[in-house]
Amino acid sequence: MTEVKCVVFWGVVTFFWTLCRGDRDVSCVFSEVCILPCSFQPADGPAVRWTRLAAGGSVVHSYYDGRDQVQHQNQNFRGRTSLFVDQISSGNASLLLTGVKVQDQGRYVCNCSSSAGTRLAFIRVSVDAPVKTVNLRRAENRIICSSDGIYPEPNLSWSTEPQSKFVLHSSTLVQLTEQQLFNISSSLTVPDNNTDLTYVCTVTTRKNHKTGRLVNPETAGRAQGLGIVAGVILVSMSTMAVPFCVEKCIKEPGGDSRLRGNPDSPPTGKPNRLNWVELKTS
Ligand SMILES: *[C@@H]1O[C@H](CO)[C@@H](O)[C@H](O)[C@H]1NC(C)=O
Ligand SMILES: *[C@@H]1O[C@H](CO)[C@@H](O)[C@H](O)[C@H]1NC(C)=O
Ligand SMILES: *[C@@H]1O[C@H](CO)[C@@H](O)[C@H](O)[C@H]1NC(C)=O
Ligand SMILES: *[C@@H]1O[C@H](CO)[C@@H](O)[C@H](O)[C@H]1NC(C)=O
Ligand SMILES: *[C@@H]1O[C@H](CO)[C@@H](O)[C@H](O)[C@H]1NC(C)=O
Repeated sequence: MTEVKCVVFWGVVTFFWTLCRGDRDVSCVFSEVCILPCSFQPADGPAVRWTRLAAGGSVVHSYYDGRDQVQHQNQNFRGRTSLFVDQISSGNASLLLTGVKVQDQGRYVCNCSSSAGTRLAFIRVSVDAPVKTVNLRRAENRIICSSDGIYPEPNLSWSTEPQSKFVLHSSTLVQLTEQQLFNISSSLTVPDNNTDLTYVCTVTTRKNHKTGRLVNPETAGRAQGLGIVAGVILVSMSTMAVPFCVEKCIKEPGGDSRLRGNPDSPPTGKPNRLNWVELKTS
């Protein structure tokens, strides 16, 4: 019965407060530190009480009689809350919450009372665990893309570079961890006849997205091979050009035939052969 009254009371308070002020939104990052802001008119005998509006209002942190009072604190917040005690006398009632959990999401009320009266402030806390890394690996004729520890639930999408005309077949699995985070993993079937592509996997959540790429090893090998072929062609072309040029220059009357014969070579009298070596290694 008292519980019902309490819920109704909070409902009414919340309703009117939201009506005239609206909640203040605070975005916290999973496992990090977060400050829930609250301030009041400084006056004598300040008391600060932070409660969470879920489950009949659980006590998050209290301060009165000039010190922290955590004896009625909800277990979930044990050891994770503090106030800027030295600043309470100047009206700072902000709450410092450490080791943010997904379960910390929700609405909080900061109740500051003093000889000057009572002030309530409502804070809506949201928690994000952004995408950190996207891992791609090859497994036989499939490519596996995975990313762990994300909140809220992420989306995963596949694409190719360049864009493939074939439909990509994949299956995606999302798992919930004990910390209420999401692990996502997707398996893409690679068509046998479509290996000249870079496979791109993008994991998206509310706060960010990250992309991973897997260049087909076969393609990468072939591109290198092409480079070598091109190098060989260039080298053989230059070897052909040199005798032709030298021949032509010698025919011209006067001057140093070799220097004029190859304007690209520095005038140090180095043999042209050096240039070919450089070409090959580049
Ligand atoms: C309270 O103090 C903390 C620490 O100095 C500061 O980060 C925060 O912004 C202050 N909050 C208000 C409402 O003054
Ligand atoms: C705010 O705190 C004061 C003093 O602790 C208390 O009398 C009052 O009922 C509280 N208000 C709410 C809405 O919790
Ligand atoms: C989620 O990923 C983490 C980190 O890789 C791992 O330790 C955990 O076992 C995974 N949980 C589930 C339910 O897959
Ligand atoms: C490649 O294989 C897919 C099925 O694996 C098929 O639908 C497609 O027609 C094939 N394309 C070519 C060019 O052979
Ligand atoms: C994930 O995809 C669904 C359906 O397309 C969409 O409603 C949702 O907003 C997406 N979520 C994110 C984080 O992009």
